[in-house]
Amino acid sequence: MRKRIVAGNWKMNLSLDEAMALANELKVKIDALRGSAVAEEDNPLPEVVLFPPYVYITRILDMFSGYKGVWVGSQNCHHEEQGAYTGEVASLMIRSAGASHVIIGHSERRSQFGEDDALLARKTKQALKNGLTPVFCCGEMLPEREAGTHFGVVTEQLKNGLFWMDESQLAKTVIAYEPVWAIGTGVTASPDQAQEMHAHIRKLVAGTYGEPSAENMTILYGGSCNAKNATDLFSQPDVDGGLIGGASLKADDFSRIIQSLWTT
Ligand code: 13P
Repeated sequence: MRKRIVAGNWKMNLSLDEAMALANELKVKIDALRGSAVAEEDNPLPEVVLFPPYVYITRILDMFSGYKGVWVGSQNCHHEEQGAYTGEVASLMIRSAGASHVIIGHSERRSQFGEDDALLARKTKQALKNGLTPVFCCGEMLPEREAGTHFGVVTEQLKNGLFWMDESQLAKTVIAYEPVWAIGTGVTASPDQAQEMHAHIRKLVAGTYGEPSAENMTILYGGSCNAKNATDLFSQPDVDGGLIGGASLKADDFSRIIQSLWTT
């Protein structure tokens, strides 16, 4: 069965005290969800993945130690195994610190740090080699959407960044569709827009790897997803959860988004 995930990308936000307080609050909220009347054996809570800044990863991991269903990942990784790359962090380090996931190809990395598809392919290779689950982001910019080239843009990003993998590697990967015009803008893709792109992505996976791989692929939506619109987005058949930015910094909003996925 396809995994359903709610992930929180904290980006470059929060002091350590704030991050610990948020994690603590989240723990209480998740416990409350688990204990609530809707909890059922055959409907477990969706997986939750938190992406704090690197320096907080071990602290957040400690906080959730022994806690089922909550994972911690990094927002980026370097494309080399190790070496003279001052200020950079390798997949091997992230994994050995206990994290399980890594975001690769976020649009902020693509646009602000010039990360291109070839580099992102190298990052996903490193991540997989070291046992991390890549959460590979794709998505078009506003002019591309307006010009009607959005399907082609996403196709190229996936073909170049991801489809070098074999089937077993792809099975360990998550895709996140994040239209750039929806990130941090308060403008969300409509449920129809999200669904048609997710269906397109699933079809691409099917065309390259076959139906079973496509059927099992988790595809998250990201871009101004919040407690109000999550249910509508998650009701779409090809939307398997969310990669949440701003709303993941508020425990109440984030837990309501988890609840939306759980009850949809
Ligand atoms: P917002 O939810 O703040 O739009 O950010 C989405 C995002 O970039 C998640 O990676």
